[in-house]
Amino acid sequence: MKAFESVRGLVGNTPLVELRSLSPNPGVRLFAKLEAQNPTGSIKDRIVLRILESARASGALAPGQAIVEASTGNTGVALAMFGRLMGHPVEVCVPESVYPEIEQLLLVYGAGIRRVPRQAGIKSAREVAKDISRETGAYYLGQFDSPENARTHYETTAAEILADLAEAGGVHALVAGMGTGGTVSGAGRRLKEANPACHIYGVEPRLGVHVQGLKSLEDGFIPPVLDEAVLDGKILVGNRHAFSHARRAMLAEGIFGGISSGAVLHAGMRLAGRMTSGNVVLIFADGGWKYLGTDLWREDDGDDQPDDGEDPLDDILWW
Ligand SMILES: Cc1ncc(COP(=O)(O)O)c(C=O)c1O
Repeated sequence: MKAFESVRGLVGNTPLVELRSLSPNPGVRLFAKLEAQNPTGSIKDRIVLRILESARASGALAPGQAIVEASTGNTGVALAMFGRLMGHPVEVCVPESVYPEIEQLLLVYGAGIRRVPRQAGIKSAREVAKDISRETGAYYLGQFDSPENARTHYETTAAEILADLAEAGGVHALVAGMGTGGTVSGAGRRLKEANPACHIYGVEPRLGVHVQGLKSLEDGFIPPVLDEAVLDGKILVGNRHAFSHARRAMLAEGIFGGISSGAVLHAGMRLAGRMTSGNVVLIFADGGWKYLGTDLWREDDGDDQPDDGEDPLDDILWW
């Protein structure tokens, strides 16, 4: 029988696709890992399923117990689906600025929604979720806090990348968005173990700029999950470049990525321009569907033109 036992079997093992036409440098190969291929359409299926399974196994989460979490989108959607599948009522605390498509998805999957004021952001949504957990006894998923988050990326995301590029010479750089920091911390650690010369770059929005799924460390909240020691640098990206590069991925390579994928592509192309050779892996954390209601897909300002040499690399912070 070739059928999967459950949708749980579809998590991970996402494809890696070379972006042949987008590398600005013939010696550097860019590869995108398409996390939109997960069952709810994002990388968050990996960590949510893992946290739920380990909490059930340890007894921290009882059968039928309610679950609460703070999320700006993808984690909430993944939790709404897997929580329900495993028999748990789910409530997600979202900042009011969340895209309407995300609330619609949460409702489709049967989750409850608690809105927190727009200005308060994810930091305060996390506090609200913790309060609800204390008051009602609901299990707090804790994507920003759980060691299972980075561990999942260490054991699955990075292992898949290493296997896929073993014959192509391995991995020389990883570029991934930073929300909780789980992807860069877990996958980054494993890739550095495999090749200590592999560089790890986190992509974050400029302070005050909203890039869905990503957060600025400059806002004063450093997620406990984030291991800054793994990072070789962080690359700040604005919305304009994130949007224009999501469009480029679609037009040049037929890849329908989300806003953070556009930000990561922009950062990866910048990086590739500075390297002489090597394989660069870009994590495309979700797909473009949820952002159809935004300006993302509207060509507006000529920004789709190659921007080589346009801005100096002053948006790459090295350390
Ligand atoms: C669309 C999107 N991109 C990137 C990220 C960042 O991933 P991580 O939380 O592992 O840092 C997230 C989640 O936070 C996300 O939803």
